[in-house]
Amino acid sequence: MDIILASRNKKKIQELKSIIEACGFAGKDATVTIHTPDEFPQCEEVEEDGATFEANAVKKAVYIFECSGMTAVADDSGLEVDALGGAPGVFSARYAGEVTDDWANLEKLLREMEGVPDEKRGARFVCCIALATRSGIKTFLGHVDGRLGTTPRGEKGFGYDPVFYPEGHDRTFAEMTDEEKSSMSHRGRALRELQTYLKEQGLIL
Ligand code: IMP
Repeated sequence: MDIILASRNKKKIQELKSIIEACGFAGKDATVTIHTPDEFPQCEEVEEDGATFEANAVKKAVYIFECSGMTAVADDSGLEVDALGGAPGVFSARYAGEVTDDWANLEKLLREMEGVPDEKRGARFVCCIALATRSGIKTFLGHVDGRLGTTPRGEKGFGYDPVFYPEGHDRTFAEMTDEEKSSMSHRGRALRELQTYLKEQGLIL
C-alpha cells in the first residue's frame, strides 16, 4: 500500500515517518511505502484557512489525494493555551507572521505569557490526522495536556517543543528523544488511532 504524506514541513514529515515506521506499518519489510509531495511537483501548497484542525487536515488530505491519486494522510496540529483563550490554535504556525518562523512564534508566546503564574500556564497540543482514500475521508484526533515554561529548554523537536512540559514530566518535549515524545504526543496518539483503523479495515497487517 502506498501512502502520501500531505505536508511540506520537513521536520513534521520526519516525525510522521518515524512514528509510522515505529508503529511497524511502514519501512523495511512492512506493507506501507511512504511518499511525499516532492514526488508530485504538479501538487501545490494548500492554503490552511479552515476554522478547525479537522477542516485543515481534511482539506490538505483531499487535495493531495486528488492531485497524486494516492491514499493521502495529512496532519494539522497546534497549541491551545488556556490563559490565551485557546490561542494560537489553528494559527500556531503563523502566530508571529505569515511566514512560519518557529523561533519568532515561540518568542511571541513567551511575551504574551509574561507574568502568568505557574498554575495558569496550562496548554495542550492537538493533532488531527485525516486519511483520504477512494472510499472517503476519515479523521483521527490526538491531544496531550501540559504546561508552558518561562524559558526555552532543549534542542530537539520543533515549534513550541522547548516550552512545553507534558503532564507528569519535568522535561520539555525538546529535551526528549523522538521515541519518548511520540509515545505521549498528540501526533503519536492520532497516528496510533489511524494504525488501528487501517488494521480493522484489513489495509495493513
Ligand atoms: P500546521 O499543522 O502545519 O498548520 O502547523 C502546526 C504548527 O503547530 C507548527 O508550526 C508548530 O508551531 C505547532 N506544532 C504542532 N505540533 C507540534 C509539536 O509536536 N511540537 C511543537 N510545535 C508543534
